[in-house]
Amino acid sequence: MSTPILVTAGLPYANGSIHIGHLVEYLMTDTFVRALKLLGEDALYICADDTHGTPIEINAKKAGVAPEDFVARFAKEHLEDFHAFGIDFDSFHSTNSEENRRWVEEIYGKLKSGGYLTRRTIEQLYDEKAGRFLPDRYVKGTCPKCGAKDQYGDVCEVCKSTYEPTDLIDPYSVETGTKPVLRSSEHLYVELSRFADFLREWSAAPGRLQPDIKAFVDAWLDGGLKDWCISRDTPYFGFPIPDEPGKFFYVWLDAPVGYVSSTENWGRLAHRAGDVDRIWRQNGGRIIHVIGKDIVYFHTLFWPAMLHAAGLSVPSQVRVHGMLTVDGVKMSKSRGTFINGATFRKHVDPLYLRYYFASKTGPGTDDIDLSLEELVNRVNAELVNTLANLISRAATFLADRLGGTYGQLRPEASEHLAYAKQKVAEAEAAYRNFDLAGGVRAAVEVANLGNKLFQDAAPWILIKTDEAAARDLVTLCLNLARTATVLVAPAVPAYAERVYNILGLPAGGPGHFEEALRFDLVGRAMGQKGRVVEKLERKALDQVIEDSKPKDAAPEAAPEAKPEAKAAPAFEALAPMIEYDSFEKVDLRVGLVKTAEVVEGSDKLLRLSIDLGEGRDRTIIAGIRLAYAPEAVIGQRVIVVANLKPREMKIKGKIIGTSEGMVLAAGPGGKDIWALSVSAVAPPGTRVR
Ligand code: MSP
Ligand code: ZN
Repeated sequence: MSTPILVTAGLPYANGSIHIGHLVEYLMTDTFVRALKLLGEDALYICADDTHGTPIEINAKKAGVAPEDFVARFAKEHLEDFHAFGIDFDSFHSTNSEENRRWVEEIYGKLKSGGYLTRRTIEQLYDEKAGRFLPDRYVKGTCPKCGAKDQYGDVCEVCKSTYEPTDLIDPYSVETGTKPVLRSSEHLYVELSRFADFLREWSAAPGRLQPDIKAFVDAWLDGGLKDWCISRDTPYFGFPIPDEPGKFFYVWLDAPVGYVSSTENWGRLAHRAGDVDRIWRQNGGRIIHVIGKDIVYFHTLFWPAMLHAAGLSVPSQVRVHGMLTVDGVKMSKSRGTFINGATFRKHVDPLYLRYYFASKTGPGTDDIDLSLEELVNRVNAELVNTLANLISRAATFLADRLGGTYGQLRPEASEHLAYAKQKVAEAEAAYRNFDLAGGVRAAVEVANLGNKLFQDAAPWILIKTDEAAARDLVTLCLNLARTATVLVAPAVPAYAERVYNILGLPAGGPGHFEEALRFDLVGRAMGQKGRVVEKLERKALDQVIEDSKPKDAAPEAAPEAKPEAKAAPAFEALAPMIEYDSFEKVDLRVGLVKTAEVVEGSDKLLRLSIDLGEGRDRTIIAGIRLAYAPEAVIGQRVIVVANLKPREMKIKGKIIGTSEGMVLAAGPGGKDIWALSVSAVAPPGTRVR
């Protein structure tokens, strides 16, 4: 009986779009699983949407839809992206499913009956206006250490110190702006320290963790494990805890269980229900979790402990990768490097990104840099000018000059075939070890040999004196091209499929890694010649960047109205129709301008403090100075987009402050700006619809 290898990727939150940071993980894991499958392993690629928790509950409410509908939209969008990037899950399910509820309740039942749970009453910040306890990221205030304003409840971004939300000075709720109160509530905790011995043994097993990750786990274990709170108070989107009215399971309890329930979903679809228990209950398979560095704690402590307590199979391996940077820095919205998968594929064939990420994935945990220049150079040098070039040159020659029929492999070819064999062995070892770069490199090396043989033998000259020799040489080159294609197929399956068509091999591309060693393109007809892959143009990437920049141009960048353009203003074309719920997402409020001052270094900006009825004034930086003197706006009631994410504003790279919203105004810019105002009796904070 085969041993199933279950490979998972971290479950994306059903709260946002798939971006290139996610794609690092989903693509590398897809390439890894495709390689295992080609190698004849019974491998499965399992994932799901992570649907629960406070942010999703709040965002759904803000969007005016039920959380179930909210997450369903993202599920649809995520699947479209995965499909377009060739990410081929055996099951992509949801944590908000009946299967998941059942497994969660089973695991919880075992934690309870095993005596691993305790109860504790704790005091937390509570937003009386919103009627909810505030998670760390939903409360802000002044850092207790350095005094920086507007810091989150868990960590200060200025001095990097960590603290409890209750330590914040002048805390306020991010949602309502009101001052939270302390309220106590009883919660359930898992006594994690009880698992210390198990976790030590589990983490020390050879091959379980990368060395630096093992070092982290050791340090956590040495430092002593704190109890883990697994309950949350209503309102919450999640599974209710049985027999605990008003309490829900914390999202991180039910999220990893999604790995199990999505496997169950696969078992049903593939008619292999028995294998689900084999894998998850009987240690009858291997379980490999691929995750990013940011979620190691959950996967190397909580999750194995839960599985252990429940008597289920524990992970064979947790394989951690680094986080994505773009040209050396974190993805950034304003730089246009926070790139969604959908934006990328609008301008650039996903094939290139698949190739590039695979060529950058080694066994280590270093951050992964997407250098735009390197992406263009490497893809063009290796995929286009080496791998595809060999195919197009040799296949075109065979088709145009030699009637499209393969010749023979001569005895002299054997040394080259031996080299190819060695590269196939190297690629296999690399892929098994998650060294995708090694797999791709072996393919390029084989293609390099083919290109060199073709160039050195010059079949376009040889054909004039010895047609058979030319044919056999081209035949050798195409057999090497085929080997290279099999080796690179896990990274770029769509490419491999095209090459297989050209070579006259079965539709659908390589079916087994052994085809790399078959060398059987002899004495028969090739397929249809054709282009394999175009050169990647830098232009296309620049479009991706441009398209990823925020559309609401920064006020200081607002286009100046040119005097001549003003004479006959053209009617600006209407934006596409939207549903009411899209409009409903924009939270417009009446705001009272309390102060206004010029911003040094800018002739366009005013810094306003505006009362939105939240109990504190907001700072909003608006590009209206050419049209309004500061005194002219003080005391005005304006319309503010109140739920626009706070944005750091810069002039020539220098930060001038954070703008916490936007004042609505009409007009093209410059002196022609007319801020919207309302009746002087409308109370600040009133919603505008
Ligand atoms: N929902 C949790 C995971 C639950 S797993 C039981 C989560 N979701 S996520 O959407 O933020 O991330 C999903 C996966 O993508 C994680 O493994 C995460 O590390 C990875 N990445 C998300 N952003 C990333 C980068 N910028 N770079 C590399 N990987 C990244 O965490
Ligand atoms: Zn601080």
